[in-house]
Amino acid sequence: MSWVSRYRPRSFKEVLDQKEAIETLMAWYKNWKPGSKAMLLYGPPGCGKTVIVEALAQEEGLDLIEMNASDFRSAEAIEARIGRSMAQASIFQRPKLFLIDEVDGLAGEEDRGGVGAIIQIIKGSKHPIVLTANDPYNERLRTIRPYCQLVRMRRLGIRDVQRYLERIAELEGLSIDESVLKIIASRSQGDLRSAINDLEVLGRGSRIIRDEDLSSLGFRERQTDIFEALQAIFKTKSLMTAKLSLNEVDKDLEEVFWWIENNIAEEYEDPLEIAKAFDALSKADLFMSRVIFRQNWKLQAYAVDLMTGGVALAKREPYRKFTRYTYPSNIALLGRTKGERSEALKALGKLGSILHCSRRKVRAEFLPYLKIMAKRPDFKERLDAFMEASED
Ligand SMILES: Nc1ncnc2c1ncn2[C@@H]1O[C@H](COP(=O)(O)OP(=O)(O)OP(=O)(O)O)[C@@H](O)[C@H]1O
Ligand SMILES: [Mg+2]
Repeated sequence: MSWVSRYRPRSFKEVLDQKEAIETLMAWYKNWKPGSKAMLLYGPPGCGKTVIVEALAQEEGLDLIEMNASDFRSAEAIEARIGRSMAQASIFQRPKLFLIDEVDGLAGEEDRGGVGAIIQIIKGSKHPIVLTANDPYNERLRTIRPYCQLVRMRRLGIRDVQRYLERIAELEGLSIDESVLKIIASRSQGDLRSAINDLEVLGRGSRIIRDEDLSSLGFRERQTDIFEALQAIFKTKSLMTAKLSLNEVDKDLEEVFWWIENNIAEEYEDPLEIAKAFDALSKADLFMSRVIFRQNWKLQAYAVDLMTGGVALAKREPYRKFTRYTYPSNIALLGRTKGERSEALKALGKLGSILHCSRRKVRAEFLPYLKIMAKRPDFKERLDAFMEASED
């Protein structure tokens, strides 16, 4: 079990901070009757939004029905998911509480229907409903807001996070320097989930943790850099700011490219802007391949300008919202197969020099036949010897 789940609060008194939000939530729950507003809890990631709703259900003995906003793609999906239970009072069963989590996670055109459906549910529900979001001013939530009582949950304090980590470290029997806890806490920026995850990464490695062990968390740190760069690109209208955004990023350009690619549609909402941004990106891609093809590194500057400035200027106005930029899945894939791929490229290159053609041609035109021929043991052995290649 991950430490985040192990130390997930089950009652209000286990929740760190958030006293005000809990009180408001309780008062709302006590006074709720059909026709009342839903509650919209909002705040940064990992501050306890989902946790306090679960704690409320525990404390009041409620049957908590949790849904993620992405289940609300269409009215039919909702029917299938909850059917009539929303509109039926629970007479013989435990009282119900509905949680629609991460409503700002709804993305794209198809979800317009989802927003309408959520409003219908709020209006017709015989049970209290809580919604959570990171950014309540998200454009898509505009029509939902009037049906909700908004409650802000604050970012957790760095000191509090540090103390919380101290307690977990103690329970896990870790010996850890206070300075390390301090760094983890401040790096988390009040996101307790990520702080606990960091501690777990270190704690699973060794019971005794010193300053120098922090380097194994380097990954997350570098991620913050890329997050900042993405924020600069997506939130600015200034060409200069966008261009400078990559200066501090220690990732190769191709990786940055995929980060931007993966997050355009997370940030921009207008299809025209999204199209423009992708257009700029496709041109950047073209320049990047020319850099490699012609070994002309001057061209790289154009790729950078298009990726940063081109994407930044694709929007009319910056979106005033918090976007959780996500890790591009194809990089994860590239990383995983990196070793394999470079081996394969080497082998292809070798064959290419023997066959006097490009790697691409080897792959497309020779490899299929070689694979068939390689089934004959004598041929394979001779080829391997000739190429000094390994089995792979
Ligand atoms: N206030 C808190 N008190 C105790 N633990 C917390 C608190 N906030 C977060 N956590 C820890 O972080 C984990 C995630 O918390 P939670 O699911 O409530 O985050 P959230 O605010 O809903 O974030 P998101 O916006 O990402 O959904 C919990 O399992 C818990 O371990
Ligand atoms: Mg949550």
